[in-house]
Amino acid sequence: MPNYFLIENRMEEVSEYQKNILGLQLPTDPRWVDLAHISLEEILTDHAYCEQKAATSCISLIQRYSNKEKLVTELAPIVTEEWGHFRLVLAELKKRNLHLGRQRKDEYVNKLLTFQKKDGSDEERFLDKLLIFALIEARSCERFKRLSEGLNDNYLSNFYRRFMESEAGHYTLFIELAETYVDKEIVRKRWQQWLDFESEVMKNLAVRGDRIH
Ligand SMILES: [Fe+2]
Ligand SMILES: [Fe+2]
Repeated sequence: MPNYFLIENRMEEVSEYQKNILGLQLPTDPRWVDLAHISLEEILTDHAYCEQKAATSCISLIQRYSNKEKLVTELAPIVTEEWGHFRLVLAELKKRNLHLGRQRKDEYVNKLLTFQKKDGSDEERFLDKLLIFALIEARSCERFKRLSEGLNDNYLSNFYRRFMESEAGHYTLFIELAETYVDKEIVRKRWQQWLDFESEVMKNLAVRGDRIH
């Protein structure tokens, strides 16, 4: 018999951990989980593409910054992991006799991209790339947490809890990589600006149940 007390304790630990590290300023609108539950095929489709984009983004970072050994070493396994996530979501669609739909325009990420320093120094542009990935991981993690807590389906709750834990680890890794190559104080200041900007983006996005962000 599983030790429920232990499982519960672990959940509390994860929640506490996330509250401390994510720093996101605007929690997801509570209506979102209900909408997402109604449009499960769309949400799983969108989730699948998010995982695919996470894998390809890590590949792009490795190609662009091949001279940064730690980055290459740390991100190589993440590519496999994100692609594994894509396959898990694909299998979930199939199991439920649902289909992978078309990829949508990613309004959230497109809006975030406008905040990148386009004509900054190499270091500033590099930092922004890492922080934007950290931010997307953090928000995905928060959304998966909402799904794991709010879905009236035990199997899906566990499914999303595992994604939540994994993306929390990725968030931490991107911040850690930023601090490896850029002065910690500069990272902290810029991260705060990104958090402020992201909360504005979230405020202005429609609450839609057919997308992860
Ligand atoms: Fe993932
Ligand atoms: Fe991730």
